[in-house]
Amino acid sequence: MKQFLTAVLVAVALVIGIPAANAISEAEIKKDIEEFQNYFLKRFPGVTLADYADGVNALPQYAERRANWELLMEFPPYETEMDKAAEQWAKPFANGKTFDDCNLAAGNVYPVYDAATDDLRTLVGDINVCLKANGEKTIKNVKVGKMARLVAHYRAQFNGQPMAVDYSQAGAQKWYEKGRQIYWAKRGQLNFSCANCHVQNAGNKIRGDVLSAGLGHTTGFPVYRTKWAVAGKPWGTIHRRYAGCNKQVRAKPFKAQGAEYKALELYEAVMNTGVPLKVPSQRQ
Ligand code: HEC
Repeated sequence: MKQFLTAVLVAVALVIGIPAANAISEAEIKKDIEEFQNYFLKRFPGVTLADYADGVNALPQYAERRANWELLMEFPPYETEMDKAAEQWAKPFANGKTFDDCNLAAGNVYPVYDAATDDLRTLVGDINVCLKANGEKTIKNVKVGKMARLVAHYRAQFNGQPMAVDYSQAGAQKWYEKGRQIYWAKRGQLNFSCANCHVQNAGNKIRGDVLSAGLGHTTGFPVYRTKWAVAGKPWGTIHRRYAGCNKQVRAKPFKAQGAEYKALELYEAVMNTGVPLKVPSQRQ
């Protein structure tokens, strides 16, 4: 890790500019998307935009292990879990309503900016809002288990649809900037930014893992992960993953569903504009 760190610090060449201080425009965000996506499309020729939905499995550096993953996908380990998700989704509330009556955004469009509250709505947040509005108990653990299952069930109906998060409002653009700042800022004892690993070092190895490209992040979430399954909690939302990555660089994770991770989710989702949704996904 030390060696890797030194190599990164020496080799870091910022391909994409560090965020500017003034408010960002819609046109500038479009340019960010183009630069971000073109960087990967050039770096990994032959890997299409849609391929990035498969995370690290899409990269040529992962080719050796990809065969294993494909084999696993013949009988995906999450199948019975998805049946359970469907049951939990369909189970009526005490008032007779179900999750189908919730006021959720349709399509591959989360997080959604809400101008009235100047807040970002995530699917996780909206599910809890709906439970509360119907007099049900909210789900406390928003990173694993039932919540992740419900999110997977809802999102899966939009599989194949390209990511299309709306960042046209000034308020959304502010959230975007916050997310971008978090993505590119170095943090933790190891002083790594998200971009250090998932942009500059995408495809390179770290402690035996190949690093995925930032392009494609969020499109497979929630994921069902072998490593998490061993510990009895196979599902993880995107905020669970963020916390894991923060811990890897010995930074204190932010709170799941807090402002930082919501902003980060928005930034990553915007960078993935056009990448098709593929939920759930299996990961190592
Ligand atoms: C020290 C390197 C490192 C840093 C820094 C890091 N990650 Fe990761 N990240 C990993 C590794 C290793 C994995 C697992 C292999 C993979 O999918 O890249 C991973 C996986 C992920 C995934 C899962 C991708 C998928 O499709 O399964 C996401 C999303 C992610 N990271 C986002 C982030 C974000 C956002 C940050 C900054 C807060 C960050 N990472 C910082 C190493 C890092």
